[in-house]
Amino acid sequence: MNLYQIFTQETDTFFAYLKEHNLFYRRIVTGAIQVNEFASFLRNVSFLTTYTPVHLVIAERVAKERGLTQLAQYFKDKRGEEVEHHRWGDADVAALKAHFKVPDDAIGITKEMKDFIQGNEKLIHRDPFSYFVYILFSEYFTVIAGPECLAAVEKHARIPQDMMTIIGRHAELDKHHVKHWIDESVDVGLPAAEVMSYQSALREVMDRYSLFAESISRPYVKAAA
Ligand SMILES: [Fe+2]
Ligand SMILES: [Fe+2]
Repeated sequence: MNLYQIFTQETDTFFAYLKEHNLFYRRIVTGAIQVNEFASFLRNVSFLTTYTPVHLVIAERVAKERGLTQLAQYFKDKRGEEVEHHRWGDADVAALKAHFKVPDDAIGITKEMKDFIQGNEKLIHRDPFSYFVYILFSEYFTVIAGPECLAAVEKHARIPQDMMTIIGRHAELDKHHVKHWIDESVDVGLPAAEVMSYQSALREVMDRYSLFAESISRPYVKAAA
C-alpha cells in the first residue's frame, strides 16, 4: 500500500466509526439532527476554515526554517487555493439565520473546536509534513462524508443544500485536490519511512475531531433521568 492508500483507508474507517459511535454523526444517520444543531456545526466548520490560510502561512514559515523548500512552496501555493473559502460558510449561516431564525446563542464556537484548531497549529510546529498529511485527511474526509451527510440532513432537518455550501462545494472541489496529493507528496519529498509518525499524528487529529463533533450535539441530548 502506498501512503495515499494507507491514509485514505484510515479515514474511511474513521467515518464508519463516527457513524456508529459518535453522537453527532449518529444523530445525522438516524435523522435526529436538528436545524440549530447543524447550523452550529456549519458555523464551527466555517470558523475552522478561516484558520486554513493562517495555518498555511505558519506551515510555510516552519518548512522554510527547516530547509524544506519544496514543502514551503506547496503550502504557499495551497494558500492561494484555499483563501476566502470561509465566506461560503458565512453565507450559509446568514441564510440559516434568516430562513430558520437560528439564534446566535445556538451557534457559538465550542471549546472543542478551539482545541482542534490549536492541535493543528501544534502539529505544524512538531512536523510540517504531518500537516501535509492532515490536509489529505481533511479534504478526503469531506469528499467521502460530505455528500452522504448533506443528503441525510436535507431529508431529516429539511435544510436545503444551498444553505450548506461550505460542505457541498468543498466535497466537489476537494475531489480534485485529493487526486493531486500523491504527486504532491513526491514533489515535497514526504519521507515515507516516517509513516508511523504520521499515523499517530492523524489519530490525534481524529480524536480531537470526534470530540468536536460530540460538542455540537451534546446540548441537544437530554440528560438521562
Ligand atoms: Fe477550501
Ligand atoms: Fe481543498
